[in-house]
Amino acid sequence: MSRTLAVVTVDSATANARSATPAGRETDVSVAKTTSPPGGGRPAPAADPLAWLADNERDRRAAGLRRALRPRAAHPTPALIDLAGNDYLGLGRHPAVVEGAARAARTWGAGSTGSRLVTGSTTLHEELEQALAGHVGFPAALVFSSGYTANLGCLTALAGPGDLIVSDALNHASIVDACRLSRATVAITPHGDVDAVHAALAAGGWRRALVVTESVFSADGDAAPLARLHATARAHGALLVVDEAHGLGVVGPGGRGALWAAGLASEPDVVATVTLSKALGGLGGAVLGPVALRDHLVDTARTFIFDTGLAPANVGAALGALTVLREQPELAAAVRARAAQLAALTGAPAPAAAVVSVVIGDPEPAVAAAAACLARGVAVGCFRPPTVPAGTSRLRLTARADLTDADLRVVTEVFAAAQVRAR
Ligand SMILES: Cc1ncc(COP(=O)(O)O)c(C=O)c1O
Repeated sequence: MSRTLAVVTVDSATANARSATPAGRETDVSVAKTTSPPGGGRPAPAADPLAWLADNERDRRAAGLRRALRPRAAHPTPALIDLAGNDYLGLGRHPAVVEGAARAARTWGAGSTGSRLVTGSTTLHEELEQALAGHVGFPAALVFSSGYTANLGCLTALAGPGDLIVSDALNHASIVDACRLSRATVAITPHGDVDAVHAALAAGGWRRALVVTESVFSADGDAAPLARLHATARAHGALLVVDEAHGLGVVGPGGRGALWAAGLASEPDVVATVTLSKALGGLGGAVLGPVALRDHLVDTARTFIFDTGLAPANVGAALGALTVLREQPELAAAVRARAAQLAALTGAPAPAAAVVSVVIGDPEPAVAAAAACLARGVAVGCFRPPTVPAGTSRLRLTARADLTDADLRVVTEVFAAAQVRAR
């Protein structure tokens, strides 16, 4: 049964901001007892079992939390500068990447036809796994259908009842969900607090333990203290699992990631998860680590076993993106330089990679600022609860390696007109 440690000083406002139901207050799901109506018959059916959705929508609207899907043009509009997407290196439309996807689809078909364990594994998937492992500096990799399923598969295969997962309070929803699904004890530690990680591990009572963090936090854009986390984890015999979703392609020489940059990539007690959907411009995810870990995941990771293999086009695209990254290692430094410029423009904290977080406060002014930018031709992300903690609604700007000086001049004017400034 899942249990949540209360030993660590958890900032309850932020600890579980990524999910509507806080991970730290997880409750067991039990079947509600039905009371038999007088006479012993079945209860009268409710008129509309989804009627509550309207009330719920009204509450979200009142709190400024309604979300709308807006159309995206098939081709980038020259009039729109995109500071909202995660295609940090501009590889999503790179000819080599698009052609890699098309060639793979022509050769292998549109889909993977089933789980790779059932209908077979293509040489293309294995080629990608070797290329990814080589690039990020790990002995082995296993590809999943997304970064989300990579995190779910990895953490649930590595931790279970009797184990401890120490998870940063600002970890991504996929990590929060993985912690819940694992049925391990979960200690949520304040953001970036290595002493709290030490305290959680030192409390003992666990069979195996792992510490999980993002390398670059997806909403705040800051870096995890990887070297200190690793030293602490190692001192306690715990594994360090690092989600490099926003590190791959951007941090370290040639975008090899934060673990490579910290000299931790090939350590036997370090595991990485990545997504192929951000700097690599496509779709998919992977877990990287020792060969024995890959074997373990093939046998036990439910999101690998019970999920259709990543579509060939996505595999071909990722291979193309890695080739471009190898040929143009300067792309990673270019995007970091643009991110630093965006931060300077807005008074936001210096970013560790491509994500610049301009905290506004309440949701309404954040939404209004994002709309004002869009109306002037600059698309920015707008993050509100439950994606970020209450009171920290923000504009999330993402730098791209292909932003020009002329783009930056336009962005400067638009931000001034829309009063985009970190509070
Ligand atoms: C830190 C982090 N991990 C995992 C994911 C999930 O990746 P994917 O979109 O490939 O499922 C994301 C995506 O937003 C992320 O930001």
